[in-house]
Parts: sequence; C-alpha cells; structure tokens
Amino acid sequence: MNISWEGFTSENGRMQAILTSMVDGLVAVDKAGRIVKANRAAEGLFMRQEPYLLGQTFKSLLNMEDLHDTITKVLRTGVESLAEYSVFPNSETIYRINIVPIKGEKEDIEGALAVFHDITDARKFDRMRSEFVANVSHELRTPLTSIKGFVETLLDGALEDKLLCRRFLSIIDSETNRLTRLIDDLLTLSAMETKEIRVNLQNVNLVESVKNVFNIMGPQAEEKKLRMELIYPPDMAWVKADQDLVGQVLINLIDNAIKYSCDEGRIVVRIAREGRKTMVRISDTGIGISQESLPRLFERFYRVDRARSRVLGGTGLGLAIVKHIVELHGGEVFVNSQEGVGSTFTFCLPTGDLMPKAAESDL
Ligand SMILES: Nc1ncnc2c1ncn2[C@@H]1O[C@H](COP(=O)(O)OP(=O)(O)O)[C@@H](O)[C@H]1O
Ligand SMILES: [Mg+2]
Repeated sequence: MNISWEGFTSENGRMQAILTSMVDGLVAVDKAGRIVKANRAAEGLFMRQEPYLLGQTFKSLLNMEDLHDTITKVLRTGVESLAEYSVFPNSETIYRINIVPIKGEKEDIEGALAVFHDITDARKFDRMRSEFVANVSHELRTPLTSIKGFVETLLDGALEDKLLCRRFLSIIDSETNRLTRLIDDLLTLSAMETKEIRVNLQNVNLVESVKNVFNIMGPQAEEKKLRMELIYPPDMAWVKADQDLVGQVLINLIDNAIKYSCDEGRIVVRIAREGRKTMVRISDTGIGISQESLPRLFERFYRVDRARSRVLGGTGLGLAIVKHIVELHGGEVFVNSQEGVGSTFTFCLPTGDLMPKAAESDL
C-alpha cells in the first residue's frame, strides 16, 4: 500500500494551514519509518526543505538510534511515546518529542506522527529556579547555624560569664542583621521581577543624590581613611529616574567601593552627560576583580571571595539589584577592573531637562 500524506486526511487544505502555522515541528512517517511530510517548523529544525527530507528515516537524517528505535516501536506496537531528546549533538536545545501512531480504518498502523516541542527555555528556567532556591536556603542557613550555636553555648553556661555573654550576643545581633538584610534584598529583587515596584520617574538631581550617599557612607569611609570625590560638569541636567531607586544604586555601588578598598584609598564619582544619556562612573583604588569573575559579577549571590564578602556583611545581591534597577530605567551597567589596581562601575540613565540656574546654584 502506498501511504501518502493525502491518505491521512480528507481536509487537506485546512490541514496544510494548521501545519504551516504550527510552532512545533511535525514530521509524519510511513509504516517503514520514512518521512512523508514535514511542516515548516520541522524544515527549520532540520535546516532542510521538505523535498530533501521526504523518504529519509530519522536514522539516516540524524543518526539518532534511540529516536529511530522509539519510532520503530510505536510503528510496531501502536503505543504512543513521549520523551525528551537533545536531537542535535553539541547543541543545548532539548525537545520533547511526542510520537503517536496513525491508524487506518481497520485499526492497522499506517504510519506515525512525531511532534517536536522545544523545551530548552523551560528546562533552563527550572534549573535556574532550583539553583536559586538552593542558594537562598544556603544563605539563610549559615547565619541561622551560627545563631543557634551561640545560643546553645550561652544556655550551656556561658550566660554566667558577663563578658563572654556580651560578645556572643553581639555576634547574634550581627547575624540577625545579616538575615534581615538578606530578606530585604530578596524582597526587593522579587518585587522588581514581578514588576510590583512602580518606577516613579521624576527629575532627579544626581549631584544631590551622590552627596546624600557620601553623607550616609561618610563614617564608613572615614574609618578606612578613604577620600571620596565627586566630579560633575558645570551645566548639569536632571536625569529622568526614580529618586529612591537611584539612591539604592548609588548606595550599593559606593558601599562596595568602600568595602573592597584598602585603607587610604580614593573613591571618585564622575557624572558626565553624553547626549541623551547621563553616565555615572564610580572608581575605586581597591582590591580589583579578576577577569574570569567579571562576566558573572551581576549574577545573584555571585561573590569573588565568599569569605571576604561574608566578613564584610555582604548578601551577594547588591549588584544584581543594581542591574535590575538600571535596566528598569532603560539604562545599562558595566564594570572595568584590574586586580590590585581598582574597579570602575559605570551606569547610565536617560538625561532629563537642563537644570534651571537656581537649582544648579544650590549644588
Ligand atoms: N568595587 C569593588 N571592588 C572589588 N570587588 C567588588 C567590587 N564591587 C563588587 N565586588 C565583588 O562583587 C561581588 C558581588 O557584589 P555584591 O552583589 O554587591 O555583593 P556583596 O554583598 O558581596 O557586596 C562582591 O562579593 C565582590 O567580590
Ligand atoms: Mg555589595
């Protein structure tokens, strides 16, 4: 019997339209496993036009023994199969392939249909989600373990020693603060991801924002004898941004510049207008970052030196939050760094109107 696609349906025209518009790749094979039909998505998938696919088997086409065996089994038993395959070697694309038998009027098996559904993104998303949950659990457990340890030691008798008691309680206090910071940062990130945070765009005076952050961070910088400078052009313009969120970006970046600097260093914030963008560069003369670490720096929980970040009270989420906020404003953030020399973080925001003279003179 000569099996052809036309033999499978009486509504060929309508069927053609459906097949062409399908996102999933669809391939029909005859009783011998030879391709008799491939829709447009399947042509894209195999990077070959239908005429070059017809008559081929999956074995000759892809050299995929397991897929070929599955099809053969479906053709032999008439039982549907659903499985995941990475069809092409050296490719990360994963397909869920559903193979159903095509039966004739007398329930005899005339061929099979294979539907290729690309699930790469879904799998990647699943993996990222479980990695994130594992990271969060680990980050939460570490301070909790430490708190529990000190509480137990206190209960075991250290409570009687006033000095020891005070020292342990202050460690418990700082671990509790770490937990609070971690949860605050997680909530900020999640609010940004679910778009719960409303970006309230207004004219923001960046010079004032940086000076505010310098004030807040002053004591921290003084402790390490760091010099902090701000350089900006004479004709300052506003930026169109959310004041609080920009404040958070500056705090996170300047906090890092301070934390990852050695004593007596220098931190310079430069504001420059470049057409419709306003660039903010935060340079430090700190420990710097190795070239291998740079591409991963803005990932959640990524830290060059986990132990150092922990001692300094970091959550590993600061730069992820920075990136999110800057991107919410349609801007970009990047980093240049050399180990042992220092780092420069640059972000840009959309430039707003020129500042009126009165506002400028307040600066
Ligand atoms: N200015 C900087 N100089 C050197 N390393 C930095 C600097 N800023 C960030 N880093 C590195 O990037 C990592 C991630 O930064 P961040 O997301 O703010 O987390 P953390 O809570 O550890 O500060 C830090 O742990 C540190 O290793
Ligand atoms: Mg930080």
